[in-house]
This record gives sequence, C-alpha cells and structure tokens, in this order.
Amino acid sequence: MTAPERTGRPLPYVLLSAAVSLDGCLDDTGPERLLLSSPADFDRVDEVRASVDAILVGAGTIRADNPRLLVNSAERRAARVAAGRPEYPLKVTVSGSGELDPAARFWHTGGRKVLLTTDEGAGRARGLGIADDVVVPLGGALDWRAALEYLHDRCGVRRLMVEGGGTVHTQLLQQELADELQLVLAPLLVGDPAAPRLFGPGAYQGGRLRLVESRRIEDVVLARYLPTAPGAGRRVSAADRHWLALACELAELCPPSRTAFSVGAVVVAADGRELARGHSREGGDPVAHAEEAALAKIDPADPALPGATVYSSLEPCARRASRPAPCARLILGAGVRRVVTAWREPDTFVPGADGGGVLAAGGAAVVVLPEFEERAKAPNRHLDGA
Ligand SMILES: NC(=O)c1ccc[n+]([C@@H]2O[C@H](COP(=O)([O-])OP(=O)(O)OC[C@H]3O[C@@H](n4cnc5c(N)ncnc54)[C@H](OP(=O)(O)O)[C@@H]3O)[C@@H](O)[C@H]2O)c1
Ligand SMILES: [Zn+2]
Repeated sequence: MTAPERTGRPLPYVLLSAAVSLDGCLDDTGPERLLLSSPADFDRVDEVRASVDAILVGAGTIRADNPRLLVNSAERRAARVAAGRPEYPLKVTVSGSGELDPAARFWHTGGRKVLLTTDEGAGRARGLGIADDVVVPLGGALDWRAALEYLHDRCGVRRLMVEGGGTVHTQLLQQELADELQLVLAPLLVGDPAAPRLFGPGAYQGGRLRLVESRRIEDVVLARYLPTAPGAGRRVSAADRHWLALACELAELCPPSRTAFSVGAVVVAADGRELARGHSREGGDPVAHAEEAALAKIDPADPALPGATVYSSLEPCARRASRPAPCARLILGAGVRRVVTAWREPDTFVPGADGGGVLAAGGAAVVVLPEFEERAKAPNRHLDGA
C-alpha cells in the first residue's frame, strides 16, 4: 500500500472550535470579551459541548475571558447523565507558567477540572492556591502529544473540543493534532493590529483544508473543515479499534464462497455515529462487496459522508470484474476520505490489487491496523493467501 501509515498510541478526536471576525480576529483588545457569534450559534456550541468528553482552553483565554465552559441546556445535561456520562464535560486548561487565578470561574463551575502544566508551572499554580488534585505536571516542557495521551489514557477522553485561544489552535493545527475545525465567521471587522488572531505564523502542512459543511446561522456562517496534512486522518483512536473489530465480526456473517473473500465494513461519521454496515454477498447478491453494500444504504447527499471513515476488514478493492466500479472508487465517489482496514488484499483473485494506492491517489488517508489481520483472515481460511 503506498499511503504512509501512522499507528501510534491512541489520542482523542480533536475538534477545534472558534469564532472570528472578517479580519481573522478572535477578540478585540478591550476589557470585555467581544461577542462574535449569534444566539443561535451559541446554542449550537452548547450542543457540541454536550457531545464531547472534555473542553480545553489555553490559560490565556481564562485570563482574558474568565469563561465558565458549561453545557447550559438542562435537557442536554440530563441526556448526558441518562447516557451514563458526567453531567458536564471535563474542563481542561494548559499553562506553562502556572500563572492562573484560583478565583477564576473555570475552577468553580461545572464538573471535574484538569490543569496540564510543566513541573515548574505545577509548583507555581499550587502556590497560588489551585487545588492540588487538578494540577498535572507533564515534565520540563508541555508536549501536546503527551498532553493528549494523558487526556485519553488517564481521563478517558475520546472526543475533545478545543475552544481557543489562538496560541493553542495554532499549535494543534501546525503539529497535525487537529482532526476537525469548526469556524464561525462573524460579519464585523476589528481592525486593531494588536487584537488576537485565530492562527499565527508558522508552518502549516497540507495546503488547502477540505470544506465538509457550510451553514448560515442567523448572520454568521459556520464552516467545518478537515485538515489535509499528510498526517491528518492517520492517527488511530480507540474508536478506530472498536469499529474495525466490528467490521471483522461482520465478515463472519458472509455466506462462504470459493471465488471471493468474506469481508465486513462499517461507515462511521466523524461524530461517532454509525451510518451503515455491510458484508460480502449480503442479501443473497452473490457479487456484493461489503463496502459497496454499506455505502448503498447511505443517502449520497448525507453531509456526514465527507467526514466519515470506512472500516473494512480487507483493503477495499481496486479492480473487479463483477461491477463497473471497484470499492476504492465507490468510497472516493461518496466523498469519504478516510479508510481503516486490517489486511492488505492478497493476490488471490486480482494480482497486484492496490486499493490503498487508489484511495491515497484520490486524497484519502488509509490506515492499516495489522493487529486485526488474523481476525480479518479467519473467515477466509479456505482461500489461498489467507
Ligand atoms: N473567538 C473565539 O472563539 C475565542 C475563543 C477562545 C479565546 N478567544 C480569545 O483569544 C484570546 C486568548 O488567546 P491566547 O492565544 O492569548 O491564549 P490561549 O491560546 O488561550 O492560551 C495561551 C496560553 O496557554 C498556555 N500554553 C499554550 N500552549 C502551551 C504549550 N505548548 N506549553 C505550555 N503552555 C502553553 C500558555 O500559558 P501560560 O502563559 O500560562 O504559560 C499560553 O500563554 C483572548 O482574547 C480570548 O478572548 C477567542
Ligand atoms: Zn470491493
């Protein structure tokens, strides 16, 4: 497979959220926080907050805005509790200096809090009166990957919403640790050269981001983008393992065949919703492929498709005799740009098949998780190559 693979330790899905003025500012320089968004958009943000495990802001945002970072809707909080989740998402802040006001609202509202900081910052924060049990020292300098691993492994964070400010957003995007950007464009101009900007200078990989949704909300525009950097989409999360395991289970449902593989596939939206599933020869169709069967169940206009991932127990096919379009083409045609698979297609039926190469050439990220290979092969034991 020609696509580079990156299968490091699992990290949360990182969603950057910000509102900017037409001249790219996050705020003005006045003492009050500049209101950029509209009431209906604040409600949308509340809904996104209710969907995540944790909300993160930089220490600069706490100092400038003194935010509460709550889920305001009582119904959404009740729904979280009913689903067995904490009433409020975990609140996380990062600071190198540890220079934080213990009276800030951040510490006194909502549920659990965490301060990710340096060893030196931890001493400073404790000295200022930040509660000992929320302070997490992560060494001499704060490394974002280590910080995200901590949130994933120690706090159970699978979906993280980052609400600024610009310093934090810039680092996460430049370090290819952001999975999605939700940007709200407000119809006003700040004009102050000293006002904070959403993204600062530095090296950004990947060129143009991929616009996957745009929506008018009162007088602001919401745009959702997915990064296209070479590393984007190749990070592996615990959710990826869950869905690929399901794809391998679906492969067990296939009626056995001497002339085709048994494969399972699941299509999952960026927010973790299953869109469809399928398996080979499903519904009595002797030539149906798993990815094809799953995609056929989704409305081609579904706005979730561009952000979705296809999990397939076997690498999607690059060529096939039974239908005009192979699955790699069907996936690209559906707008999906991320595929997670367990096993590269052997030369059993189609010598030199390179579905991963077709997908990569079409701009999709392809991740292979070899630890699932044996499970993916199990229902194909009677075939050569398995
Ligand atoms: N419009 C919006 O959607 C929105 C959202 C959020 C914020 N804002 C605005 O953004 C402005 C604040 O932005 P900002 O860029 O100044 O602050 P920020 O990104 O919120 O926080 C920056 C601070 O975070 C800590 N930090 C970040 N990366 C770190 C690293 N790798 N290692 C150690 N510490 C790290 C540092 O804290 P220490 O200095 O303590 O070391 C740094 O000064 C405010 O004006 C606010 O109103 C707007
Ligand atoms: Zn196929």
